[in-house]
Amino acid sequence: MSAGRTSEELWTEAQRHLVGGVNSPVRAYRAVGGTPPFIADAEGAVMRSVDGRRYVDFIGSFGPLVLGHSHPAVVEAVREAAARGTSFAAPHEGEVELARTVKELVPGIEKIRFVNSGTEATQSAIRLARGCTGRDLVLKFEGCYHGHVDALLVEAGSGLATFGIASSAGIPAATARDTIVLPLDDEDALEQAFRRHGGHLAAAIIEPLPANNGLLVQRPEYLERLRRLCTENGALLILDEVLSGFRVPGVTIGAGLGIEPDLYTLGKVIGGGLPVGAYGGPARWMDRLSPLGPVYQAGTLSGNPLAVAAGLATLRELRANDGWARMDALGAFLDQELGPVLEASAHPYRLVRCGSIFWLAYGDDELPRRTDGFHPNTAEIFGLLHRELLERGYMLAPSAYEVGFLSLAHDEDALTGFAGAVGEALEEVPAP
Ligand SMILES: Cc1ncc(COP(=O)(O)O)c(C=O)c1O
Repeated sequence: MSAGRTSEELWTEAQRHLVGGVNSPVRAYRAVGGTPPFIADAEGAVMRSVDGRRYVDFIGSFGPLVLGHSHPAVVEAVREAAARGTSFAAPHEGEVELARTVKELVPGIEKIRFVNSGTEATQSAIRLARGCTGRDLVLKFEGCYHGHVDALLVEAGSGLATFGIASSAGIPAATARDTIVLPLDDEDALEQAFRRHGGHLAAAIIEPLPANNGLLVQRPEYLERLRRLCTENGALLILDEVLSGFRVPGVTIGAGLGIEPDLYTLGKVIGGGLPVGAYGGPARWMDRLSPLGPVYQAGTLSGNPLAVAAGLATLRELRANDGWARMDALGAFLDQELGPVLEASAHPYRLVRCGSIFWLAYGDDELPRRTDGFHPNTAEIFGLLHRELLERGYMLAPSAYEVGFLSLAHDEDALTGFAGAVGEALEEVPAP
């Protein structure tokens, strides 16, 4: 443990043992500069660093912590589960309960398979779609992140509806070529892609609320068109709601808009802060999985009793406390507090929000719905704002393009304080 060491000291040592000092790249603060605070403990809406500093946290572990940190019901559920056994690699009641609960909340899911991360969920859903259709091609959208799956770490090639190129080293060109990448928010590009490739497409995968490159709220008609084209062409529609699921009005964007996918991918909230992902949909697709069908997918720790206990406790608390309505009300309070502060600022920031997910959009133009709508100063200005907010005890994710997360532990005082701090911070940020 830290034995009284500071974040600076730990950061120096971390870089000797961990690649870039971290286990997931954004945590290294490369996009905002400075030393990442090392967290000693966290409770409710607050994280405390080893340096004794206190931060109101708007990262929420990048989404899972809808109840805030160390919620007593979650801690107790994990403690009880651990006392009964940390892993069985055999069926147990908790995984059945979590599956039933997710099904009750998300219409259209008849069968579920739990895995250990969102990445595993999307990777497995793609394999299942290929297995169900006997086709190889996958369609994805620029700016949507689906975890570090080879087939999905792909950028658009030149021109519309062309085959993708890998966006990470280590991805075979042949894998990237099986992925077609389209810009978001463009019905013509969709129609053209389906005309050219529709008969070979296994699946289209989309974040229906793209939230990994800013918060790019999509037009419902666009998502409906995608649903229709998938149906007409025999391709499966995968709604990746790993991030948006259980954080938006309607529980999922799909359910809220009445757009039923062939497969959902889920994660984050359903693990309550422990490692869980899931994919699910109608039995006619899901039953193609092993042991019933020919598509293989397995996991030593899948359905882990601690993880499902944390997820169940989280969903039970949300349901029992009218969680989705309360989060939306908190979000509306944030709009009310932060909106005028941003308007009064010399910087052209606007608040974009859906349920408990928010983003500070930089620029005067129409709110972006695709990744080419970003102002060129977005990252630079955010880096300065981020530093000023940290100084004032408010922690946003260390990148201009990551969203913020509210939890039921954020009370009105925390949000009023945040709005005030943003106002002060923006005064310290020079205009570009
Ligand atoms: C929409 C979406 N899909 C998939 C993933 C990957 O999940 P994980 O990081 O648990 O592998 C993420 C992670 O942020 C995500 O936001």
